[in-house]
Amino acid sequence: MAHRLSLRMLLGVTLATLPAAALLAQFKDAHDPPPSGWSGPTFKLSQNYPQTVPALESASKRPWRQFDFKKPSQAPKFLQAVLNYCLEGNTANNFADVSQNPVRTWYHAPWLDAGPSGREFIHGMTKERPSRPGELGPSQTGSHDNWAVGFYNARGGYTIGQVWKDPAHPDPRKSTFPAQTVTCKLLFTTAPIAEVPFLQGTLEWQGDITRASGTGPRPTLRLLQLDVAVKDSRANPTIGWVFGTFQYEHDASTSPNWWDHLVPVGLMWGSDVARLKSDQPTQQEWINAARGQKLHLGRKDLVLNGPIDNPRGSCTACHGFAQIATVATPTPPIPGGPPGDAATPAALDRYFTNIKAATPLSADYVSLDYSLQLQIGITRAIASGQASLPPMPVHGMAVGAHPGPPHLKEVTRDPDETP
Ligand code: HEC
Repeated sequence: MAHRLSLRMLLGVTLATLPAAALLAQFKDAHDPPPSGWSGPTFKLSQNYPQTVPALESASKRPWRQFDFKKPSQAPKFLQAVLNYCLEGNTANNFADVSQNPVRTWYHAPWLDAGPSGREFIHGMTKERPSRPGELGPSQTGSHDNWAVGFYNARGGYTIGQVWKDPAHPDPRKSTFPAQTVTCKLLFTTAPIAEVPFLQGTLEWQGDITRASGTGPRPTLRLLQLDVAVKDSRANPTIGWVFGTFQYEHDASTSPNWWDHLVPVGLMWGSDVARLKSDQPTQQEWINAARGQKLHLGRKDLVLNGPIDNPRGSCTACHGFAQIATVATPTPPIPGGPPGDAATPAALDRYFTNIKAATPLSADYVSLDYSLQLQIGITRAIASGQASLPPMPVHGMAVGAHPGPPHLKEVTRDPDETP
């Protein structure tokens, strides 16, 4: 009896002293757990989301506010300031645990572990669009897979936590991100140095991308691209967000630090479809004409997209489809990928028209405010049968008076992409 009592007491003490994060760890870290005996790094989903909107960090911590991203002379400074913010406190341990960053905590979106492209267990990377021969430069002869991991600052983490407060009923209506939400994403390629010589000296990670068993080494991936997005009210006339991207270039610097080799490719605050329809460079972006590697941009090289992205699309057009349908056959449908070079003006309008932040595509949708990680997470959770949308009125009809969507469509980068 005394023995049982002391066990119960011990249990009580243990529970009470567990850190809050451990108690709240309700979402899976990765597609597979590490094999027993694994001694390398292991990804931990940062999911202790703030319960109230975190206060804005002081202006000196967000120096990009000083720069007008619409001015070509200031756009690179804006981007560099955002990049520094993403790197601060993360480079010392190579982003091993962003929840323990001593400068500021970062958060991951849940449910990206599910499916064949789901998070591998070493760094939490998810599978991206593969790079076709030539897309990464003239030496690239093979098609190569790409994997990436992204995270949000505390303002964004708050919103993710609100959407996922009830894990059985993720609520897309909660997904309006507060101003100065920042999200960053590191994209890695499996392409060998022989095919992408400009990646010499970049950050190398192993990834469990073949879902191997055993504790042996995993394939090596190399950092190629780094994406950022900032919710900034100065972009409200178009989409409310600024999207930007960097590429690694060996020759950009002699510094031993990989991050000093990140060269801005450009930034955008809209797709400017009017100009795309007349094959003109858009005027809602800045492109760095001085970058060393002139890899492809987006549609006809007229609009920003990253080297790993689909050469026909643009950052903000694709992200505008971060939407959840509330009816079975929504209009317009979420497209399978960007339109081809010979697309009609109407098709270009459908894909590239700017959508304002947190604004639904039509009355058949709820917006996820440009977050495709929320879009994919919610879609996969529902597909797994472990979650459903909360009851909500549709088209002004009472809850339950309208059949909801039987399944949701993921936003994909190419029509042939497997999720
Ligand atoms: C054709 C579609 C497509 C294009 C083009 C695209 N993305 Fe994404 N992006 C995605 C998808 C899908 C995700 C979610 C899954 C993931 O994180 O891999 C995502 C995730 C992200 C994230 C993480 C935040 C989030 O929840 O969405 C950032 C930041 C991001 N992309 C920035 C960019 C930037 C910058 C560009 C252009 C240089 C770009 N993206 C181009 C499809 C696209």
